[in-house]
Amino acid sequence: MDIIIVLDFGGQYTHLITRRIRDLGVYSEILPHDVNLDEIKKKKPKAIILSGGPSSVYEQKAPKLNNQILQFTTENKIPVLGICYGHHLIMHMSGGKVESKEKKEYGKANLIILEENLLFDSLEKEQIVWMSHGDQITEIGPGFKAYAKTETCPVAAFGNQQKLLFGVQFHPEVVNTPNGNKILENFVYKIGKCKKEWKLEGWIDDQVKEIRRKIGTDNRVILGLSGGVDSSVTAALLHKAIGDRLHCIFVNNGLLRKNEENEVQEMFKENLKFSNFHYVNAEDLFLNKLLNVKDPEEKRRIIGHTFIEVFENKTIELEKVHSDIKYLAQGTIYPDRVETSATSKVSAKIKSHHNLTLPDDMTLKIIEPLKDLYKDEVRKIGLELGLPEHIVKRHPFPGPGLAVRIVGSIDKHRLDILREADEILINEIKNAGIYESLWQAFCVFLPLKTVGIMGDFRTYENMCSIRIVESTDVMTANFAKLDWDLLEKIASRIINEVQGINRVVYDITNKPPGTIEYE
Ligand code: XMP
Repeated sequence: MDIIIVLDFGGQYTHLITRRIRDLGVYSEILPHDVNLDEIKKKKPKAIILSGGPSSVYEQKAPKLNNQILQFTTENKIPVLGICYGHHLIMHMSGGKVESKEKKEYGKANLIILEENLLFDSLEKEQIVWMSHGDQITEIGPGFKAYAKTETCPVAAFGNQQKLLFGVQFHPEVVNTPNGNKILENFVYKIGKCKKEWKLEGWIDDQVKEIRRKIGTDNRVILGLSGGVDSSVTAALLHKAIGDRLHCIFVNNGLLRKNEENEVQEMFKENLKFSNFHYVNAEDLFLNKLLNVKDPEEKRRIIGHTFIEVFENKTIELEKVHSDIKYLAQGTIYPDRVETSATSKVSAKIKSHHNLTLPDDMTLKIIEPLKDLYKDEVRKIGLELGLPEHIVKRHPFPGPGLAVRIVGSIDKHRLDILREADEILINEIKNAGIYESLWQAFCVFLPLKTVGIMGDFRTYENMCSIRIVESTDVMTANFAKLDWDLLEKIASRIINEVQGINRVVYDITNKPPGTIEYE
């Protein structure tokens, strides 16, 4: 299958480039910018894209590209497209000049195409494009031609037909460049001559065969099932491949949403007929360990460790009955892998999520069938596998659950209050028909007591913050500008129906500078 490699220079849109290429029907993967040539050769790419990034090419510490890579692509007629930082870098390495300009271009710009070329094939002469960089090319290298300009940027796109090097100063991968997809399509098919081979339809059959080959006919697999999209799709896929040789362990940590433990059990045991679904109720254990713990990182640590303890104990118990448990499945998806690898070295790390890593001494072999997929691809696979929409389209829910949505210490009373409020919010959002258009919607319990009036009585109760955000890539998120009437209805229902809350506030913080969760 043809593959396009995206080399990551720390740009916030790197994943978006890969996703766009896959949407166009060509498989694409991200590699770190300092990857060695042998790695690239192994992948046999049909084309390479150099991503954007926050640095300036002339800075000493700016991420570089090994010169051998451009020699290799030229010798082997592999086209390279630089986007923003990548655009500067190609020119910087090819005898051109990049400088910081006083008049920087951020936001929408009017692009004028200077001559006919394959990159802009079948596009009008003027295009709206999205710019986001302070540097620009001031001198073009030998063999290169300026393909397009803007009012302030004389080389907004370039090409070198002989060396198959191309660059665009703007971002074709973002929706704010309305014809960006067409430009990428031209690069992929007209310049890169890729075949349209990446389709999800055949993926399930291929994976089922691959899983069966790997696991063999006798071995068993264990999977920690949280009921979230990734682990549910992993479970459904493995179940299709090896049936009841899949053992799912579902741990109730006491930090789940209202009724979640019943819904997940019903779904897998009754609807999908999983015979080896093991429910472990560890609510008391978790809540006892979390008693009086206020520090968010400490909460995460305790939850992570306790989960491992519970999961290991259950696995040991199962291993006594089934000596052929040999694999541990995980619902890792592509961004999880790439974000924790060297690829993100140059991008700023905002926060560690302290997600689970299982102990090194576990002798089980790991299997991660979704490891190359993006979330939207995982969702499509889930639907194909027959999982219901309400599971597949569910909003993300953090591993530490409601613990990071209660500011300060956690107890059952607070958790129950939050569960009630959250259920009201989600139901109202679903009734309004907007659930799927939102990235996440949830309530947060704030242990801040303020005064209120209920009937003839004064109340002195806690606060609930409603957090609803829109996002496409989770790196940035905007608070949703919800209809006032809907917000009013949600707030009054929570105050009237949930004992323990007498004030509701709406969070209007965007990310950045805020985060989505509260802790
Ligand atoms: P933040 O709060 O960093 O969240 O803007 C970004 C996304 O990550 C989720 N999140 C977590 N997920 N364990 C998880 O598995 C965590 O500790 C955690 N903290 C945040 C959050 O729900 C959002 O989707």
